[in-house]
Amino acid sequence: MEELLGVRGIHKYFPGVHALDDVAFSVKAGEVHALVGENGAGKSTLIKILSGIHKPDAGDILLSGKKVDWKNPREALEAGIAVIHQELSLAPHLTVAENIFLGREPRKGPFLDRSVMRQKARRILERVHASFEADRETGTLTTGERQLLEIAKALSLNVRVLAMDEPTSSLSSRETETLFSLIDELREQGVGIIYISHRLEEVFRVADTVSVLRDGTYAGGGPIGEFNEEDIVRLMVGRSVDVLFPREAPPPGEVALEVKGLCRQGVLEDISFSVREGEILGFSGLVGSGRSNVARCLFGLEPFDRGRVLIRGEEARIERPADALESGLFLVPEDRKLQGLFLNRSVESNATVLQLVRRLLGRFLVDRRNRRLEAERLTTELNVKYADLDQEIANLSGGNQQKVAIAKGLSVNPGILILDEPTRGIDVGAKAEIHHLMNRLTHEGMAIIMISSELPEILGMSDRIVVMREGRIAATFDRDEATSERIMLAAAGGERNVLL
Ligand SMILES: Nc1ncnc2c1ncn2[C@@H]1O[C@H](COP(=O)(O)OP(=O)(O)OP(=O)(O)O)[C@@H](O)[C@H]1O
Ligand SMILES: [Mg+2]
Repeated sequence: MEELLGVRGIHKYFPGVHALDDVAFSVKAGEVHALVGENGAGKSTLIKILSGIHKPDAGDILLSGKKVDWKNPREALEAGIAVIHQELSLAPHLTVAENIFLGREPRKGPFLDRSVMRQKARRILERVHASFEADRETGTLTTGERQLLEIAKALSLNVRVLAMDEPTSSLSSRETETLFSLIDELREQGVGIIYISHRLEEVFRVADTVSVLRDGTYAGGGPIGEFNEEDIVRLMVGRSVDVLFPREAPPPGEVALEVKGLCRQGVLEDISFSVREGEILGFSGLVGSGRSNVARCLFGLEPFDRGRVLIRGEEARIERPADALESGLFLVPEDRKLQGLFLNRSVESNATVLQLVRRLLGRFLVDRRNRRLEAERLTTELNVKYADLDQEIANLSGGNQQKVAIAKGLSVNPGILILDEPTRGIDVGAKAEIHHLMNRLTHEGMAIIMISSELPEILGMSDRIVVMREGRIAATFDRDEATSERIMLAAAGGERNVLL
């Protein structure tokens, strides 16, 4: 097979980090090459070098065996190298069609040809089985839909190499299957594909070859058939990791949160459930089934028309996040970029910002030294990789940003914590750490609501499971009666079970 794109002897330094240390890598025509490694290992950095976003500090980039020196991403794109980035980069105020054709709009003479643009966009959206329209405003799409749009956009280019950085993190399993068949198609056409994912089962499903990065160095790799999951994890973290989900539930305490008949017109209907101190209540369902809307209503980010929220038996009036915080309820949202973090602020201020909010509310006094210690404690506990506490969040790797978002939630020590997709984009080792932490917090009496699209995580960590479908609760299961089949049936509309 022809070698399409590669690097050799690549070094990349950032302040305080040797992000890539003498790395060699290449992708061939018709090959799916998986790139795996822990959070902060250097995967995104490598992709950014291959696609002209970053310049290497040393080493060569090779296109069909010839040295190239990208001046900017556009040059790489013109050579047929497209990237679907981990942090989505669409313009929210433009329509779907405008985003697909941004910078290369179809024209009729000097004018934008809107009807051709819409038509072409429609065809591309069909290819990825998108259920949204070409003239929707992009900002109104869900995270999963925006991810599909990024994929559609990349496919509309005439690509020779397509790099995908965590493309499935917000996709439903059906959308993921669609993506896999598209990948198979592209492989047939001789496109070289670089596939980054923390989900090893996906790597085994799509990849021909695997390369493992560890702390910026090449740790090993080869044809995927020569590895099993354990081998790869060992290469990634340098030791074996227990990738099972070890829920150890304490005896449940008092009811911490009770939701009665929550309605939001056209979005949520008659949502009722409760969660006790020490309990983990899992929320399962398809992407778009309303799970995140419930979370956002409870945290005061979305209004609701009807329904009551009782916190420790008392009626809570939640109209803004500050009200929720005041009642001891906190949400770590699924989209950290839009809602979770202040990207141009430091790790320290992000990890502890809520303590400041509380201070403003007159709860406690936190001096600056304490704040730093607290940030250090939380980020060490979650094994966040950063150069120092004053580093801007925007410069952390994707998974490490997610960990800071969780640290931020923990810093207020809320009685009720809602985690929306807490381990998305998180490496296997850190995932186990987050699960251990959830166990510990429930032993200290915290009530946790965990929204997750990963069935093994739902089944492994939840004491009870709520399954949502089309804005309603379709079923609830106790831990010992839940199976992936029953959950999937309920999520897709096959089974209507007893409600709470
Ligand atoms: N623009 C930047 N400025 C400073 N440091 C950076 C920058 N981009 C990346 N880094 C650092 O380089 C290292 C590698 O980051 P990179 O984003 O490549 O990791 P990754 O393997 O993609 O991780 P993840 O799985 O979490 O996405 C990290 O320590 C990160 O903090
Ligand atoms: Mg990354």
